[in-house]
Amino acid sequence: MNKNSGKSQLCDALEATSRPTHSWIHLPWPPYDTVERAQRAERRRHRASQTMEHIDLSLEQAIARIAIPGVLIGHRLISEGDERGLTPEDAEFFANSVLERRRASGAARIIARELLARGGYPLAGLRKLPSGAITWPDGAIGSLAHDTRVAVAAVGKSCDMRALGIDIEPREKLPFDIDLIATPDERLKALELPYFGRLLFSAKEAVYKAVHPLDGVFLDFHDVEIDFDQGSARVAHQRVVELRYRVSSHIVTAAFLLS
Ligand SMILES: CC(C)(COP(=O)(O)OP(=O)(O)OC[C@H]1O[C@@H](n2cnc3c(N)ncnc32)[C@H](O)[C@@H]1OP(=O)(O)O)[C@@H](O)C(=O)NCCC(=O)NCCS
Repeated sequence: MNKNSGKSQLCDALEATSRPTHSWIHLPWPPYDTVERAQRAERRRHRASQTMEHIDLSLEQAIARIAIPGVLIGHRLISEGDERGLTPEDAEFFANSVLERRRASGAARIIARELLARGGYPLAGLRKLPSGAITWPDGAIGSLAHDTRVAVAAVGKSCDMRALGIDIEPREKLPFDIDLIATPDERLKALELPYFGRLLFSAKEAVYKAVHPLDGVFLDFHDVEIDFDQGSARVAHQRVVELRYRVSSHIVTAAFLLS
């Protein structure tokens, strides 16, 4: 008899009892990397939803502080399906637009209709004009704006105001040199903000949206001079409009001209 055979039998027996009997069974849960990927995606979704919640709250507070008497301003986080806010009449204008653009414009119209309903205005109108502006129902005047994540709309009474424009921009630096849009006076009076250039850009866009439907004159950036201290903007053809702005998660500006 082999003198090792007793030891060998013992080893075999021990190995058999310590060997995991389930080692060949496929575990019912996914492999580790799948779980980790799913957890990472969940964390990303959570962070994104927190960011969106932050944007929502921050914008709501900023818009409340813009407070132009008689003007309703609303915002909306652009969501899947908002493209349905466009009407069949809009279809021709947006026929060549990508989904993101149609969604953003749809979101702005959803807000506009909510504001019109809240203000007791008829819901007709909101047709796109060749200038890019839209028509407003009798008695109302308004403006729309959107970036990639949020849309805003402002609606006022046409008997109270002759012009109304709104704009929204991300709170980021301008992607080009401020000299392209700022007059020498604006550069002298620049506010101490890292994103002052973007604020200036937004203010000029709001002014353009307010006065272009009134005058039909194309304006270059240097045709509009913003005075943030006075809360006003002077347009090249001597029209002066009032200006409000707030910086939150975004930059929101509104320009208007009372009757
Ligand atoms: C009108 C303009 C300022 C809009 O800016 P934008 O960055 O393209 O887009 P925004 O999201 O800020 O605003 C879009 C909304 O402005 C409104 N709009 C477009 N043209 C408009 C005009 N001529 N008058 C008033 N509102 C106008 C529309 O309702 C549009 O939304 P919609 O397409 O969903 O209907 C821009 O398109 C333009 O025409 N610029 C040329 C003039 C200019 O910028 N000069 C320098 C500033 S003085």
